[in-house]
Amino acid sequence: MVSTMKKTKTILITGANKGIGFAIVKALLEQFPETHLFFSCRDKHRSVAAINSLTSIVPGSESRLDAIIMDVSNRDSIQSAASQIECLLSQKGLRLYGIVNNAGIMNSPTGVEDVVRVNTLGPKYVLDYFYHLLEPDIGRVVNITSAAGPNYLSRCNDRTRKILTHQEVTWEQILELTEEFIRQYQESSDSEKELLNSNVYGFSKACTNALTMQQARSHTTIKINSCTPGFIETDMTLPLAQNRGKSPQEMGMKAPEEGTGSCIHLLMNDVTTGHYFGSDCVRSPIDRYRAPGTPAFNG
Ligand SMILES: NC(=O)c1ccc[n+]([C@@H]2O[C@H](COP(=O)([O-])OP(=O)(O)OC[C@H]3O[C@@H](n4cnc5c(N)ncnc54)[C@H](OP(=O)(O)O)[C@@H]3O)[C@@H](O)[C@H]2O)c1
Repeated sequence: MVSTMKKTKTILITGANKGIGFAIVKALLEQFPETHLFFSCRDKHRSVAAINSLTSIVPGSESRLDAIIMDVSNRDSIQSAASQIECLLSQKGLRLYGIVNNAGIMNSPTGVEDVVRVNTLGPKYVLDYFYHLLEPDIGRVVNITSAAGPNYLSRCNDRTRKILTHQEVTWEQILELTEEFIRQYQESSDSEKELLNSNVYGFSKACTNALTMQQARSHTTIKINSCTPGFIETDMTLPLAQNRGKSPQEMGMKAPEEGTGSCIHLLMNDVTTGHYFGSDCVRSPIDRYRAPGTPAFNG
């Protein structure tokens, strides 16, 4: 007799306690009954509150969730989360199917370094510490980046653009650029700091799109891609509307549930590897903005 039971897909989602991460977890629980999720966030109290709210929205989901505390800006925290998940997987007799590097920040009161640490070094070290747990032939990694990455590369200096769009880009080159950016910030005047603060989010996401190409080249048996969720109303973007005295809808922001499509597509459908996708699940260039609904990028 042929079994019709689907094998459990275990997926780690970082920054899962709110916003787009929370919506991705909810969508996976509701639409993919065969999934078991490692619900990761950096704060225990926020984790408990978010899981309580999730289990009331999706009845019966308790048994499909394991809470993991992980601060993606801290390598010890990533390593200890990886050990914890390794134990949980071995108890279940499973491997890790997918990783969603969703945790991100737009700015930090302490300057640009934190933004690079969370948005670029986070996805790098998460894969470093979790790679050995992934299903060798079918594993998936989705790095949630942003259209701010292509927008940044469309107006930055030629050298940075050339490095971050080169198909053979190395991690050492990406790291060097991040160190240069941080050094420039430390050595700059207050007005220059303001400009760098406003650019660091796009810069960090451009670096993560380049990292995605590099990771896909180094790990050829699994699928590693990045995507933008679209312009979504969350705690990250609300200040943008408030500062302009507009509502999130007037700004064109969508609900978090509408920001999950590209991530779910890259996790669950037949896709290529090493590419960046728009919120409409269509492949997009990493050095200029491609609007949803316009033709796919084939470069
Ligand atoms: N919203 C948009 O329009 C938009 C557009 C393009 C891309 N994105 C990307 O989508 C992702 C999710 O953003 P969002 O809009 O949902 O923002 P959000 O509501 O602010 O959520 C960000 C999540 O990241 C977590 N996080 C931040 N620093 C962390 C760290 N060091 N370790 C672990 N978790 C950390 C936050 O945890 P705490 O609650 O503990 O702070 C939170 O769970 C980000 O990568 C963002 O850049 C968003």
